[in-house]
Amino acid sequence: MSWPSALMKTKYGWNSGCVIYPLTIPTTSAANCYAAGNLHRLTATRKPEPDGPIVCSTGPSFICSAPGKPLLMTQPPLRIGILGLGSLGSVLAWHWRDLPLVALPRDQHSACNLKVQVQQQLWQQTLPCWQGEALDWLVICTKAAATQTALTPWRNHLTAVKNILLVQNGMGQQQQLADWLQEQQLPCQLWAGMSTEGAYRADDRVVYAGQGDNLIGRWGTEITDADHAVVTPPHTRIVNNIASQLRTKLAINAVINPLTAQLRCHNGELLQNPLYRQQLDALSTEIAGLYACLGWPEAAGLVERVQQVAAATAANQSSTLQDVLHNRPTELPYICGYLLKIAAEKNYALPLTTALYQQLHEISA
Ligand SMILES: NC(=O)c1ccc[n+]([C@@H]2O[C@H](COP(=O)([O-])OP(=O)(O)OC[C@H]3O[C@@H](n4cnc5c(N)ncnc54)[C@H](OP(=O)(O)O)[C@@H]3O)[C@@H](O)[C@H]2O)c1
Repeated sequence: MSWPSALMKTKYGWNSGCVIYPLTIPTTSAANCYAAGNLHRLTATRKPEPDGPIVCSTGPSFICSAPGKPLLMTQPPLRIGILGLGSLGSVLAWHWRDLPLVALPRDQHSACNLKVQVQQQLWQQTLPCWQGEALDWLVICTKAAATQTALTPWRNHLTAVKNILLVQNGMGQQQQLADWLQEQQLPCQLWAGMSTEGAYRADDRVVYAGQGDNLIGRWGTEITDADHAVVTPPHTRIVNNIASQLRTKLAINAVINPLTAQLRCHNGELLQNPLYRQQLDALSTEIAGLYACLGWPEAAGLVERVQQVAAATAANQSSTLQDVLHNRPTELPYICGYLLKIAAEKNYALPLTTALYQQLHEISA
């Protein structure tokens, strides 16, 4: 397979112009599309006439055709609004830089100037403020605790939104938002996401520090065929049970985040220092016990999973430690606080989590 060396900018986005291979595809076939600097998998259909143009029916909203064939567009580019243009929100905006993006700023009228450093390159863009025009996706990347406060002022525009996607750590806010959408009788489909991207704010910019995955799934329901037909934002991948992914990340965060914040250490030290290691294993075992009591299958192998993540992120400072060091509120109410709440409903004691949560609450209060 040969890839074209240059990308062309079309009015719909970047397009290589000739990326479907082989050219003699059957009526419908999966194909590769190299667009906006990334390889996408999509489904393409050849028109019935011999050698007819190829039309993409799924995949990102980029168009493809065989070499020398007309470019056809089956859907307009996705319209995405972003609420919470901090570290993660800015990185996602960078991923989606060829799409028509809008910002949902706190003051509800200013444009947002973004600066993202990707390796040595600085990307800058100004996103206009959302005026209530139709959006395929409204993506929320505030901290968990800010979700409802940030979204409520936009209530009157939300009838124009097809899908809301929360990409945040922690749990509890997804169901709170689902309940609110139902109470408000808003028809938006709610999605939840789990990101392993790495980004932080430095001076006047966001630094994209580590590429990761953005897994997304429908909140509160399994993925259906209709969901698979929904065009999702680039750089996201649909998974069937997003709640399971979020529960696994929650358990890992419920161990590594409070411990590193209390001990003021990098993630790797939790494994290297024998005294810290004992605390790591005891806390992981406590959380695994709760998961088992709740019948959550993620309990299996949780202790080992926490160790693997601590090793893989050895040089990192957890977000909770960073928040504590900068005197910012932590996300622990949506991590440890959430687990304590569901444990209490089952009369299940979490003594280590309770003690850590109380101590850290005192530090950040
Ligand atoms: N950073 C990462 O690498 C990363 C990776 C995976 C997951 N996550 C998760 O992603 C979520 C966001 O993290 P982050 O690191 O991007 O946090 P962040 O840098 O603090 O960004 C949050 C953004 O939300 C904005 N915001 C808060 N309240 C708002 C409101 N009422 N209206 C409009 N905007 C509002 C904040 O604005 P101000 O700056 O004005 O306060 C800030 O720009 C968290 O749940 C985090 O755990 C982050």
